[in-house]
Amino acid sequence: MSPHSDLNAFWMPFTANRQFKSAPRLLERAEGMFYWDAEGKEILDSTAGLWCVNAGHGRSEISDAITAQTRRMDFAPTFQMGHSLPFLFADRLIKHTSKGLNHVFFTNSGSESADTALKMALAYHFVRGEPQRTLLIGREKAYHGVGFGGISVGGLPNNRRAFGNLLTVDHLPHTLDQERNRFSQGLPLYGVEKADALEELIHKHGAEHIAAVIVEPVAGSAGVIVPPAGYLQRLRDTCTEHGILLIFDEVITGFGRLGTPFAADYFGVTPDIMTTAKGLTNAAVPMGAVFSSDTVHDAFMSGPTEQIEFFHGYTYSGHPLACAAGLAALDIYEKEDLLHRGSLIAPSFAEMIHSLRDLPHVADIRNLGLMAAIELEPKVGEPGARGYEVLLKSLELGLLVRATGDTIALSPPLIIEMSHLDRLFQTLREVLRTIS
Ligand SMILES: Cc1ncc(COP(=O)(O)O)c(C=O)c1O
Repeated sequence: MSPHSDLNAFWMPFTANRQFKSAPRLLERAEGMFYWDAEGKEILDSTAGLWCVNAGHGRSEISDAITAQTRRMDFAPTFQMGHSLPFLFADRLIKHTSKGLNHVFFTNSGSESADTALKMALAYHFVRGEPQRTLLIGREKAYHGVGFGGISVGGLPNNRRAFGNLLTVDHLPHTLDQERNRFSQGLPLYGVEKADALEELIHKHGAEHIAAVIVEPVAGSAGVIVPPAGYLQRLRDTCTEHGILLIFDEVITGFGRLGTPFAADYFGVTPDIMTTAKGLTNAAVPMGAVFSSDTVHDAFMSGPTEQIEFFHGYTYSGHPLACAAGLAALDIYEKEDLLHRGSLIAPSFAEMIHSLRDLPHVADIRNLGLMAAIELEPKVGEPGARGYEVLLKSLELGLLVRATGDTIALSPPLIIEMSHLDRLFQTLREVLRTIS
């Protein structure tokens, strides 16, 4: 029997289960910027859990709100019935969104948000009398969660390989251009013309067949790929010209990650539909939200009033506990100005991460707002080994980073202070100096 046979029942997500269970890394407690493991060791969280605990861990305002709501009303249906919280939460949320994004459809995760957005786009064209617009355009290296819609438009081959034929999709090229943009700070200068690939796809398929284009404004899971200056505006213009909906997947970039409420605000580009999750409740209760423009929403509101307009929804859309957590998180974001605080920290964060560029094996560093990645040269014949070594050595020294392949991603809680930044980068420096 393995020494950790009691760990076998939980089939872990996106994890090398056998490797993990042979030497488990278990977190036990969390508060503020830190986790503690089972041995009581303090671990600085440079990843906000999984890009999601934006206001820091263990916020008592959120746990108090959840506890109070469980006592008041644990659950209520939102199919042909309602309760006040999702109405209140939606109304509060749209005060922070770009102009026109005034309608909120609640889900339970980023994956469900992606699938909801794609279905909304298809149904939008259907109700407007263009049912032939069924093609969805994603982008290489994109991550939109793990639903069938999300993996179809997603552009990470490992996430699609084992799952057969998916939706009808095509993909834009990714925007990573290390030849020209290596070690760019903030927005890379080169590559705006990559957006012109959309014109080519329109030429290939015909605009009249294309429902939507979905992109992460800054690709997160693929290793923080920042779009070249002007790129998102160019996509916007092309979509508008051809009646194609533009969807921003803001599951990572939403709720202050770039120092603005949403990436749409950072770039000054407004999508027709915007997906969110993660920071929405500060990750205390799973929840996602899809924001849609007045135009998209209103197109559905034209038939007989007794008819359901959008045949879509989840038992837990607008769950009372998730709404309570979300409202309390939003109170914190507003009170502490966390949706903008990242813009104050970002210059120091950028300077410190780029100071690592001369360390061994560092192939590229990319950053925007409070998200960044260090790409390491892979070990010959052992892709991912170096990233994994950094993960383990960092943990040994009391730092949690996110390693995907040989890329190390950082996305600290937005409450981070200079003392945490100093500790984060001193530790990373030490780790990068010693890896093989
Ligand atoms: C851009 C993006 N979309 C969707 C998702 C999926 O979210 P979830 O894991 O909550 O389903 C993620 C998760 O990291 C993401 O980064």
